[in-house]
Amino acid sequence: MPFLRSLRIKDEYNVPDSYPFNLPVIGGKNFTMEFTSPVTFFVGENGSGKSTVLEAIAIACGFNPSGGSRNNVYQFQKTESMLGNALRLTWTKKMNHGFFLRAESFFNFASYLDEAQKEQPGQDFMSAYGGQSLHSMSHGESFLALFKNRFMNAGGIFFLDEPEAALSPKRQLVFLSILDHMVKDGSSQFMIATHSPILLAYPDSTIYHFDQTIKEIAYKDTEHYQITKDFLDAPELFLKHLSWE
Ligand SMILES: Nc1ncnc2c1ncn2[C@@H]1O[C@H](COP(=O)(O)OP(=O)(O)OP(=O)(O)O)[C@@H](O)[C@H]1O
Ligand SMILES: [Mg+2]
Repeated sequence: MPFLRSLRIKDEYNVPDSYPFNLPVIGGKNFTMEFTSPVTFFVGENGSGKSTVLEAIAIACGFNPSGGSRNNVYQFQKTESMLGNALRLTWTKKMNHGFFLRAESFFNFASYLDEAQKEQPGQDFMSAYGGQSLHSMSHGESFLALFKNRFMNAGGIFFLDEPEAALSPKRQLVFLSILDHMVKDGSSQFMIATHSPILLAYPDSTIYHFDQTIKEIAYKDTEHYQITKDFLDAPELFLKHLSWE
């Protein structure tokens, strides 16, 4: 059973006719989502609203709009939090710890840890992340270090925006095995916006397709699966027809 079960717009909230409420997938006051699996994927075209919704839920759960855990109070830029403030969440069990990984803010988070360590040398900011600056590791190495050293045994609710950006296909499988461990021990819930046909294959999951509305979709019905499969089966057929128009 997932910790976070559903969400909707608060009855008393006055919904404006502007971003993000006017995005087709949100559709104003009636926006609602249900979570029935420990892992929920958001898929859909670029610009369909996946990051907007993921960020809003993370904010509604109390995470920093810039990404990070609830305890990381750094702010690198002012981000849109109106939808987050408009949401009412229903929990099976309230979960206060976890992490919000924005696609573009991992670098900022690594910088924050470095700065915090410099300013408070008496405190150990790094051991939870494998004992060295996340900046001294590659993108994928630091991402996996974060999960192995800090999250794997602690559990929580995790919001990840395109984690595959950091990971080779092989490391995506390593990440899936970490995720599987965290899900099977009952400690964790994941919401992941992704374009990766590898991550989407995780069996114990719900895939929500963002288009004009948000609808559940089966793995093999996603464009991600179909295009990747057709392409890998016969790349020459696709490459013959490459054109900008
Ligand atoms: N601050 C903003 N103000 C107005 N419109 C915005 C703002 N941020 C995003 N948008 C628009 O909202 C739409 C959804 O953006 P979002 O980043 O949620 O898409 P996405 O599904 O995550 O796309 P991608 O797969 O490319 O990451 C886009 O059309 C985008 O231009
Ligand atoms: Mg996005």
